[in-house]
Amino acid sequence: MSAASSGRFYLTTPIYYVSDVPHIGHAYTTIVGDALARYERMRRGGESVFYLTGTDEHGEKLERAAQAKGMSPQTFVDLIAEEYKKTWQLLDIRNDDFIRTTEPRHEKVVQALWRTMADKGDIYIDRYEGLYCVGCENFLLEKDLLPGNLCPDHKRPVEKRSEESYFFRLSKYQQPLLDLYARCPDFISPQRRMNEVRTFVESGLRDLSVSRSSFQWGVPVPGDPRHVIYVWIDALTNYYSALQDHPDKAAFWGTHESPQAIHLVGKEIVRFHAVYWPAMLMSAGLPLPRKILAHGWWTVDGEKMSKTLGNVVDPRALQADLSASALRYFLMREIPLGEDGDFSYDALLQRYNSELANDLGNLLNRTLAMVEKFCDGTARRWTEDSNPDARGERLKLRAETVRGQVEAAMAELQPQKALEAIFSLVRDGNTYLEQEAPFTKVKTNPRGADHILYNVLELLRWLGLLLEPFMPERCTELRRQLGLTAPEVATWPMEWGGLPDRTAVRKGATLFPRLDPDRQKELLDKWRAARREAELKAQATAPAKVEQVAAKVAAAPAHAGAEPLAEVTIDDFRKLDLRVAKVLSAERVPKKDRLLKVELDLGPLGKRQVVAGIAELSTPESLVGKSVVLLCNLKPAKIGGLLSAGMILALGDEKLLGLAGPDREVPPGTPLR
Ligand code: MSP
Repeated sequence: MSAASSGRFYLTTPIYYVSDVPHIGHAYTTIVGDALARYERMRRGGESVFYLTGTDEHGEKLERAAQAKGMSPQTFVDLIAEEYKKTWQLLDIRNDDFIRTTEPRHEKVVQALWRTMADKGDIYIDRYEGLYCVGCENFLLEKDLLPGNLCPDHKRPVEKRSEESYFFRLSKYQQPLLDLYARCPDFISPQRRMNEVRTFVESGLRDLSVSRSSFQWGVPVPGDPRHVIYVWIDALTNYYSALQDHPDKAAFWGTHESPQAIHLVGKEIVRFHAVYWPAMLMSAGLPLPRKILAHGWWTVDGEKMSKTLGNVVDPRALQADLSASALRYFLMREIPLGEDGDFSYDALLQRYNSELANDLGNLLNRTLAMVEKFCDGTARRWTEDSNPDARGERLKLRAETVRGQVEAAMAELQPQKALEAIFSLVRDGNTYLEQEAPFTKVKTNPRGADHILYNVLELLRWLGLLLEPFMPERCTELRRQLGLTAPEVATWPMEWGGLPDRTAVRKGATLFPRLDPDRQKELLDKWRAARREAELKAQATAPAKVEQVAAKVAAAPAHAGAEPLAEVTIDDFRKLDLRVAKVLSAERVPKKDRLLKVELDLGPLGKRQVVAGIAELSTPESLVGKSVVLLCNLKPAKIGGLLSAGMILALGDEKLLGLAGPDREVPPGTPLR
């Protein structure tokens, strides 16, 4: 089922936890959703499209986060929800509604849905005993934990809990869910996510604990205010509650035969959306969503973004320096929807300069400059009596082909493919200008030069429309510079030759100013410094909790910070194979700002490749020949896509101060004791 099938287009993002301000991962989902929604608005008209985002504001995690800041939960969530709204404005997100789970309009729907499920006999009270991760807001199974009873995602110790709880009869929906997946094979995409979910459901569903009595910050269970409704039951309901006041709610939610909602989510929460949510709706007798569309995860230097690691990328800083359009373009162009991607400032600057500034920005600039110089600033549309080539037949055909490719890509919900096709058309525009050389032709055949320039302006008008969903603000500016009078109205069906005759161009500042090497360095320094500062501030304001320290140690064993760690025995220590190693060679890992690939000599133990996050300490050249200390028996892992067998020990905490090493010459392979 493609996204462009008839009816309404109802698209949602996850509602984000307001434990902290949005980072580039949250921005990615919201931007992708915005582009899909804008595209559908251009094709179907605004009234047929509803794009929803919002914030998830209940639960123990938020109650604790508020406590840590010394605020009431409501004051705290109000503050952060506002940050989300502001950020989406800055990133040109045009959502039709913003739902917050602390709003009465939402809470009443959560309670009503609960009652319907309870009336159906699908909710009962019992006791729950298990291991709970507050980060996931979920009970975990012992077999899924990391050593030390740490949650594999949050690297925090889980908590043993035993409490009275209401349960939802999820087990009853095992077969109906399997039937759903069989009936609608593209209910979950990409396909591999469908396979994972199906395997999970086939392995047997247990009833779900759906209330908590150990804290208060949530929607009370109807008839039993000792309990609050489990935050995921509360949160998932947002997709339905947000439509309740909409005059066209039934059309947007759809029917059993023709469901409408498409839920765009990160891959880590597919299970909640593809198992719990449809089961809840089945229980309540409501139509299901049409599709769960899962995208991949952004990492930074190969690692999960987290405050504790100090690698959180702030979308607002990038927007301020490069424009929202540039950031939107980069995030959607860099990775295919569904795949993971590693964020790097270098890659961002590279795409900005070559694709946005050089290819697109330059095409507009050069063309407008020539139109001003050779045609008195007005573009002359071809006339019927001019020779057929004057119509730019070649360009027209290419533009139409690309329009088809964009439509196909968007129907497949693949913005990256659409952008790839559009930018090949940008390059064709530049080639056309070079080959047709209006700057030469103007001397011998000024009318011909006019036609060529008109054709490129027309191509630019098309580009402005094709790119509109992805970079709306810069496209409005592009149309303004082309001299179009109603730049805000962008509709999809395009006819070649739609640029009116003698439209006076209005050349303005370049769309994407090129960044010279000095400016690039300045930006990189600034972004990295801001990242470090934010991290230090977070540490200073949030008193370190036991689980935060545990998270740090598990995620980045090299730093203990100011916190003493738990005692270990000498036997624990002896499990570590620490040895002196000599650096044979070192090189930067492409697109990974912090990483070096290092080849080490361990004497009798042979050679090793290690990927180390030490680029800020040493250049690759200065490292060669140095003796370092290596933890040799660390389980090998892939870092930045390369195999790393061991860890080089460095000095410092968040900020590295130096490398650990012997105080005199010793042979490589010498053990430490
Ligand atoms: N509140 C729940 C969702 C409830 S939906 C009914 C939640 N919130 S969250 O704040 O943790 O946001 C998770 C979502 O943010 C992901 O599913 C994804 O859309 C986005 N991302 C957060 N970090 C991300 C990356 N590092 N990379 C890409 N997207 C990520 O889970």
